[in-house]
This record gives sequence, structure tokens and C-alpha cells, in this order.
Amino acid sequence: QPIPEVEALLARMTIAEKIGQLNLLTPGGGATTGAVVSDDVETKIRAGEVGGLFGLAGPDRIRTAQNFAINESRLGIPLFIGADIIHGYKTTFPLPLGLASSWDMQLIERTAQVAAREATADGINWNFSPMVDIARDPRWGRIAEGAGEDPYLGSAVAQAMVRGYQGSDLGADTTMLATVKHLALYGAAEGGRDYASVDMSRLKMYNQYLPPYQAAVDAGVASVMTSFNDVEGIPASGNKWLLTELLRDAWGFEGFVVSDYTSINEMSNHGLGDLQAVSALALDAGMDMDMVGEGFLTTLPASLEEGKVTEEQITTACRRILEAKYKLGLFEDPYRYLDTLRPARDILTADNRALARAAASRASVLLKNENATLPLQQETRIALIGPLADSQNNMLGTWAPTGELTEARTIRTGFDSVVPDVAYTYAAGANITDDTTLAKNANVFGPRVVIDERSPDVLLEEALTAARAADVVVAVVGEASEFTGEAGSRTDIQIPASQKKLIRALVETGKPVVLVLMSGRPLDISEELALPVSILQVWHPGVEAGPGVVDVLYGNYNPAGHLTASWPRNVGQIPVYHAMKRTGRPAPTKGAPFQKFVSNYLDAPNTPLLPFGYGLSYTTFTYSNPQIESEQVAAGDSVRISIEVTNTGDVPGEDVVQLYLRDVVRSVTPPDKTLKGFQKIGLTAGESRRVEFVLSPDDLKFYNSALDFVAEPGAFEVFVGEDAHDERYRLSFQLVE
Ligand code: IFM
Repeated sequence: QPIPEVEALLARMTIAEKIGQLNLLTPGGGATTGAVVSDDVETKIRAGEVGGLFGLAGPDRIRTAQNFAINESRLGIPLFIGADIIHGYKTTFPLPLGLASSWDMQLIERTAQVAAREATADGINWNFSPMVDIARDPRWGRIAEGAGEDPYLGSAVAQAMVRGYQGSDLGADTTMLATVKHLALYGAAEGGRDYASVDMSRLKMYNQYLPPYQAAVDAGVASVMTSFNDVEGIPASGNKWLLTELLRDAWGFEGFVVSDYTSINEMSNHGLGDLQAVSALALDAGMDMDMVGEGFLTTLPASLEEGKVTEEQITTACRRILEAKYKLGLFEDPYRYLDTLRPARDILTADNRALARAAASRASVLLKNENATLPLQQETRIALIGPLADSQNNMLGTWAPTGELTEARTIRTGFDSVVPDVAYTYAAGANITDDTTLAKNANVFGPRVVIDERSPDVLLEEALTAARAADVVVAVVGEASEFTGEAGSRTDIQIPASQKKLIRALVETGKPVVLVLMSGRPLDISEELALPVSILQVWHPGVEAGPGVVDVLYGNYNPAGHLTASWPRNVGQIPVYHAMKRTGRPAPTKGAPFQKFVSNYLDAPNTPLLPFGYGLSYTTFTYSNPQIESEQVAAGDSVRISIEVTNTGDVPGEDVVQLYLRDVVRSVTPPDKTLKGFQKIGLTAGESRRVEFVLSPDDLKFYNSALDFVAEPGAFEVFVGEDAHDERYRLSFQLVE
């Protein structure tokens, strides 16, 4: 439905003013992720040449910018104020891969709500999140920013985040526009190298990679950001099939599309022509707003004159942008997010910090608990070791440009505040890395990796002295924040060598060792997992890292996180993920020796080191008595499955019960199994509960060779278990016509 106020405004606008609305600039000052920072921003706003800004915050600063637009441009059209609020605004939550590991959609939605409340308090009305790119290559640094490898879980997370940011009323002062990104397939970059090319069949796109974007559209996301990569040989920012046929015509998206940072200009590097040509291509493809590159601003007038684009195309893009501004209520009150009292009231409040602490605990995944070392006892003397144990610069994790490093509580301060009576000795023990090139490359945004002037031997000896005098060693090790994130790809995904050496030496002391592992990606921890150590994966836990992690170490919270991306045995296995296809020569069953002429490696198993869905608890859960309502299911009917889950340990705990489906026979080769349901339940010690799943008719469907979404009759198998490899509880049914 046309919005009368918007139509009336459009009728008054010149072509130049319409093109101005398609221009998104950054005055710099915040973290910028491209070579270009916009110049003459004030002059351009006054001239009606800017539709929005990002990279500035605070009611006063934004009021100044809005004033240029409102009082000094001819039509007084308010600006969007955008930002990258990826895992919290000032209250930084665990990085998204960690949040997803909670499998707790309510928690994720609440973190997004808090992010929206804080960001809007600081004048921001448009968020460049959620990032929902499926990622099956842990070399890719931006795997940290998404929900992992699975489209079903990824779709649920995408929707929870859109709901959290946008709420049910975009016109409220505490909600903001969300942006689903990066359409499309950005996570499938060749070799895991950021910005690299992607080549993928439509079958794979439709079945595996596109669902989370579509889920965000279904949830009403206001905007879509294109990706840097090409899709079927055409860069996403100029891909008409993607931006118009799929996004608008097939999915019914009604919001606006924004490019990534200079991604329109970069189409020239892709080989598609000069700036005028690629800008016209982008507009024609369905792009509405040009981020930073100014190709629309500088070349669309000429393209219009030369008949390469039409006035209608420019008007359509402008209309979409004005409609979003209208929905935000900016025409009614352009200063609505600029209440100077709100930052102090809404940002980094005790409640928000409490949520961040809970989220840090809930994102933690217990990978191994050697001799039940965890939870720790208060009377145990601790050696707190590791270059990440007290590193404020590395708690927030990648892409937290609005967070404040100085607000972060480290693991060491967590010990001080949560267990003040525990006796501990602290020593760094090693540098995050001794590789000066890696350190320098990771320090673009500041000193995340500092190399100690003392020799590695001196650092190590200090740690060993502390370890020998303690009962238990807690070693906080892993990646620096900027070992992941944008342009943060690695070819070696092991714990850095300096820390591996430290870990070995600590183990040799004979003391029980707990590794608190930080990373923004699945790591290759084959060596460490084989050592007699316990491992708690905590990602980069956010502003309340210390209290959240120490809560888990001491059992104030029983860990219940489960991995949402498989952890490979080595980089040579990549990609390795749970929904891989079977092949015509499937590998022998798990644990069987190598066989010639079937699909296996000479030197490693096919299975990952740790599967998708994996995670331990301080208690144990047993499953029993799986049931299926009927073994004959008519097309269009749902399938009901249930299983009894019992907490068989002595402490309360939460379990993530997962349901996987195998389509045994069908017209296009199926994945081995795919996730089709999950439930996170809490059980007290000894308690049992029957957990029910309902597979909807759509859950049995897939995209066939004609790209029709169909369910085909025949046999299906269902597995309910604790991770993607758990095949103990198998049920089957026939889908009949
Ligand atoms: O939103 C981001 C995007 O994810 C990567 N490039 C820069 C954009 C704006 O900062």
C-alpha cells in the first residue's frame, strides 16, 4: 500500500534529491572497514545528497547531523543513522557464534532487544545485523559473526534477532531497523579467504544457504545488505536474479536493499566495467542504497540522461528508503532517538550487564571434563594462567565497534568478584602469539596482541612456578579477538604455537589442567583434546566475560552450550559438516578402518573431531522410549515424535535435545541427515520429561532439480540425540501419497 505522506514528498522531489536519498555515507571516526571514508559530509547533507550516515553515535552528535538535514536541506528529510551492532551495543554479548551455541532463542532475542534499546538511546535507528551467512569453513574469519553451519538453526536465530531488534512496533523509541546480511552466500568464499569468489549450484543454495535470509525476510526484516562476492558469476550487488527475482518476486521482500561498503564500486574490480556502468547495473538489479561508494550519487544523473537507467527506477529505490524512514517515525519527529537523558538511563545498566553475564555462561560449551575436574571447589588453590586470562583487549571479540574495551571484565576480575575467597596466583605464561607478523596484522584496530618484552622462557617459568604451587591450573588460552572477523581469515586454525607450548608444559606438571578456550571459530584442537585436560570453550564472551565464565567454572551455572559448527581434525578436512552428502561409495561405519575405493582419507577419519550439536554438562542425560505417532504418514500431515529424557546426574542441568531427519530415497541426492528440530529443556537431578517434536509437512520438503519445494513419498529416518552423530535413537516412517 502506498503511504500518502511518502507519495506527497516524492512528488516534490527533484531527481537529484531522490538520488541523494540513495547515498549512505560515513564521516569516519568509528571503525571503518574499507579504504574510503566519506568527505564533505556536512556539505552533502545540506545539499540533499545524503540519505543516511553510519559510524557516529550520541544524541548530541547525531542531532547536529540531523539538523543539517532538517534545517538546512531544501526538503528537510531526516537521515537514517546506521551502525554495526553485531553482538550488543555497549553491553557486548558473546560473539554470535557463541550466542548461537546457547540454542536459546529467547536469550538471543533478549540480547537483540537490549542492543536495540541501548543503540536507540544513543541515537541509532538502523542496525547492520543479523549476519546469517551459513559458514562451513572455519578458516573464514567471519564465521564468528553468524550462527554456524546449519540452515535450520540459522533460520531460527535470524528470526529471533530480527524480532529482538525490530520488536512488534518499529515506531517505538526502543526498536530499530534490522538488516539481514550478506545476501548471498558470503560464508562460502573459496578457501575461506574473505571476499573471495563463490560458485555454487542453485540446489545447494536453495537447500542449504538461502533459508536463513528468507527466514529473516519472513520475520519482516526492514533491509537487506548485499555481499561482496559474486553469485553465479555476477557480483551480488549487481545481481538482478538475486535482488529482484528471488528477493522481491519470490520471497516478497518489501523493504530496501543496501550495498556493503563500496561493494558497488568493487564490481569494477570484479571486471564488470567502470563506476557508471556498475552503478547502473546495481540500480537495475534492485539495489536501493549505495554504502560509501557514491557511485549512485556521481553517476546516476549521467546514466539517466543516457537512458541507461530510468527515472522510475530511481523513484522506486527512493520510495523504499522514505517508507522505512516513515515507519521509524522519523517524519513525525526526526529527533525521536535523541533524548540526552537516555544514554545514562539505558546503556550498560546493571540489568543489561546481568544479561551479558548470563549469556556468557550460556554460550560456553564444555568440550571435555577430565576426571570431573569441573566444577571447581572453592577451597582448591588455583594457578590462573594464560595470555587471555587478564586481557581486557580480547574479551569483547571481533566486530564490537560500539563496545568499550575498558568496560570488559576479564576472567581474572571474574575470579576476584565471583569467588573472592578462592586463592589464586596469576601468570600470563606466554604471549598470545610470538609471530610478530600475525600480531601486527591483528592489531589494525588497536593493541589486541601485545608481545611481552620478557623472553618466552621467563614467562613460562613464572607460570610453571604458579602451577606447581596450585591444586588445579586454569589456563585461559586461544585466539585474540582480531584473529577472526572481517578480513580475519587464517590458514592455520590451531591454538598459536606459543600457547601450545605453554599447555604442554602445564600438563607435564601433573596438575589437573582446565583449558578455558577463547576463539571466534572452530579450532583444530586435536592435540589438546588428546591431552589429559578439561576444556571449556567460551568464545569471546563479551563485556561480562569474567563473571559469566567463572560462574560456569564454579558450577553456579551448569554449562549447556552445544556447538553449531563442526570442529575439524585438521584444516585438510575442511569443509566438514553434519549435513554432508553420502556419496555413491559411502565410508565404512564410524570407527572402521580405512577401505580402498570408498570415500575416505588415507590419514584421517571422515568425521570431524567434534560434531555439530556436541556439548557436555556437569550432569548426564539419558534418553529412552522414543516414539513415533504413526509409521505411515500421509502427504500434508505432520509427524509427531517423542522421547523420554532423564537427568541421571546429581545436579540440575539443561539439555539440548536435537532431532535429525534422513530422507532415505529421493530424486536428488540427500544430505546424510539434517537438523529439523531442537528443544532446550531444564531438568532437576533425577527428573524425567517426555520431549515432543512435531515435524511439519514443510520439514519433509526439499528443493528438487526444478527448484520446486516438494516432499517425495518413501522412507524417512528420524534420529533424536545429543549431537549430529548420535544414532542411538532411530525411528522410521513412510511418507505415502
Ligand atoms: O555492515 C558491515 C558489513 O558487514 C561489512 N562491511 C562493512 C559494513 C558496514 O560497516
